[in-house]
Amino acid sequence: MPIKLSGIEACVFDAYGTLFDVNSAARAAEDALGEKWQPVAELWRMKQLQYTWLRGLGGRHADFWQVTGDALDFALATLKIEDWPLRERLMNFYLTLSAYPEVASTLQCLKAAGMKLAILSNGTPAMLAAASANAGITELLDAVLSVEEVKVYKPHPAVYGLACERFKIAPAQICFLSSNGWDAYSAKAFGFHVLWCNRFGQAPERLPETPDAQIASLAELPQVVLP
Ligand code: LAC
Repeated sequence: MPIKLSGIEACVFDAYGTLFDVNSAARAAEDALGEKWQPVAELWRMKQLQYTWLRGLGGRHADFWQVTGDALDFALATLKIEDWPLRERLMNFYLTLSAYPEVASTLQCLKAAGMKLAILSNGTPAMLAAASANAGITELLDAVLSVEEVKVYKPHPAVYGLACERFKIAPAQICFLSSNGWDAYSAKAFGFHVLWCNRFGQAPERLPETPDAQIASLAELPQVVLP
């Protein structure tokens, strides 16, 4: 068990990569992509994140559905795949990404103990609603918070502030969970307690403020935040 955090009133989750497996969209089209499904998945995700940061820095926000489509177009063009129906299929898969296996049971356990639960994500409200419904976790969530409320992407502090505003609590009363190292470090710099769900054993980031602890799966969360 990594640590014990006390005084936590809400657990707030990053969506993509943390609750939902972003690679599952390209994997679902393996029949059409063959062995290219993995490079498509990697390029798609890398470019998607780059576009969020570039749009933020340039002051040219477009929502995550557009950014996700633009990133997919870049990935497909790079890999010389020209197939509009396949492009549409991949985008639709993004609405029904698989949740990681421990997600529903972990949220149920926390909810039963009275913990407030929320998603805080770059995703649009429609994308997050679709993925949550598909994973069967909609009823467990007290809030689904989207950057669309502030029109700038993570790691802008205004995004992390949405969780404090919604629950009317201080950052230190929130435990934030992300599998994206840069998101975990940035949320810690904002003032949350943070557990980095380091699913893929990534190296520590060289960014200000180290998360409180690392966990390998969300299944470890209840023992950290519940009395
Ligand atoms: C999100 C991205 C960062 O859900 O994974 O906000």
